[in-house]
Parts: sequence; C-alpha cells; structure tokens
Amino acid sequence: MTLTPLHDDLLFNGPLSSYRADLLLRSLGPLDGQHVVDLGCGWADLLLRAVAAGATGHGVDQDAEAIAHGRKVAVDRGLADRVTLDVGDAGAWTGSADVLIVNGASQVFGGEPLTHTVNALEAGRRILRPGGRLLLGEGFWEREPTAAQLAVMPIEREQYGSVADLVDLALAHGYQLQWLSQASQDDWDEFESAHALGYVRHLQAHPDDTEVRARADRQRTWRLHGWRGVLGMVYLTLVLPL
Ligand SMILES: C[S@@+](CC[C@H](N)C(=O)[O-])C[C@H]1O[C@@H](n2cnc3c(N)ncnc32)[C@H](O)[C@@H]1O
Repeated sequence: MTLTPLHDDLLFNGPLSSYRADLLLRSLGPLDGQHVVDLGCGWADLLLRAVAAGATGHGVDQDAEAIAHGRKVAVDRGLADRVTLDVGDAGAWTGSADVLIVNGASQVFGGEPLTHTVNALEAGRRILRPGGRLLLGEGFWEREPTAAQLAVMPIEREQYGSVADLVDLALAHGYQLQWLSQASQDDWDEFESAHALGYVRHLQAHPDDTEVRARADRQRTWRLHGWRGVLGMVYLTLVLPL
C-alpha cells in the first residue's frame, strides 16, 4: 500500500498555518547565531524556517522518509550547510541548545501519555542554556469531551487539561510565558483534510483495499465523532531565566 506522503499536501505534520509558524518563530526573538534543536522534527519545515532566519539547526526524527524529505528541502533552500537532520530516537538526544522545538511531539520522550508534557518540559530544562526558549506545541481540551466522544477517541480524558493547566505546569517547571497562540478550526480542518486526502486518492485508485478503507473510516470517526472542536492545539513560547 502506498499513500501520498503527507508533506505533498501539508507544510507541517500538525494543525499549523504558515502565518502562525512565522509568528511563533518571531516570538522566539532574534535567531541569528542561535542554535535551534527540533526533537520529533518530522520533515523539519519549522526548523528550516528558523535556519533561514539565521540560526544553526539540528533535527531528529525516527521517520527516515520524513528526514530524507527535510534534507532535500534544506538543499533546495540553500540551508544544508547550517542544519543537520538525523534519523533516530529524539528522546535519547543529549546536547544543548538556545531554542528547543517540541511541536506535537512530546511523545518522543517516551513513557505513559499522561507524562508526555512533563517530560518535554524537563527535557527543555536539561537541554536549554540559561535564557533558552522552548517552543512547545501541545494538545489541550478546548471543550470538555463528552463520554460519547471519549469512547471513540484513542485519547484518555486525563492526557490533557486546559490551556491554563498547561501554562501553570510550565510555570511550575521554572519557565516564563512569552507567547501563546492556538490552532484555529481552519488549521485543524486543513490538517485533517490532508490526512484524509491520502486515503481518498488511494481508494479512488484501489477501491477494493479494505485495509485502507478501514483506516480512512477510523480517522473520520475519530475526527468527526471525537475531537473536532474539542481537542485543541496550543503553541507556547516558554523562556528560562538567565
Ligand atoms: C505529529 S508529528 C510532528 C512533526 C513535526 N514536529 C511537525 O510539527 O511537523 C510527530 C513526530 O514525532 C516523531 N516521533 C515520535 N516518536 C519519536 C521518537 N521516539 N524519536 C524521534 N521521533 C519520534 C514522528 O515520527 C513524527 O514525525
């Protein structure tokens, strides 16, 4: 089974518009000469934008195809000499950075879903230099999910809280909040529609592929009977003291 790679239809593997991505990068302050590390970088478009703004970059993802695509884009944009993209376990990465990006990827640090956000905040404390910034893209409940919605989603109610809960958690880990923004419904619909489009195209060419039909049906159920308008994604720029 071959589905079109998501990067053919999306800039980021998450509900993030190009406009919001550029605002987030600006919220990090001047990036000239800064070292930016992106753990769970996917095909690394956010990291490559930071590098285009003057940073050096390093990204890690376990998905070899995503990393290969990111490397190609780095070459196409003339950025390859200032960024390295590695295939590997991002949770095992050690090193230091001025900026750490963990966008929709707190699961890279392993453990139970309930611990993912704390793991990302603790990783920032280990990796970032004094005054460093963590750009954290994380889920939250935009509305309290009903029992019926929870029953169809592969997400536990306790995995997420509100935006206020998330910010409080970051403050308790010693960060200051510098910027907060959240995915719009349009950002979510573009992200989910691009996912669905891969299945639609495949099923038009292979209408008898029951495995892909089942995956497409499951994704539509999660989305429309589960998280649409309920699960949010918030982007926090968090700063450590000097
Ligand atoms: C939702 S995607 C987000 C990708 C990227 N941050 C973005 O915004 O486009 C999550 C990424 O985490 C990666 N990932 C999950 N567990 C990982 C691990 N242990 N080590 C490295 N990458 C991991 C997946 O391969 C995937 O690319």
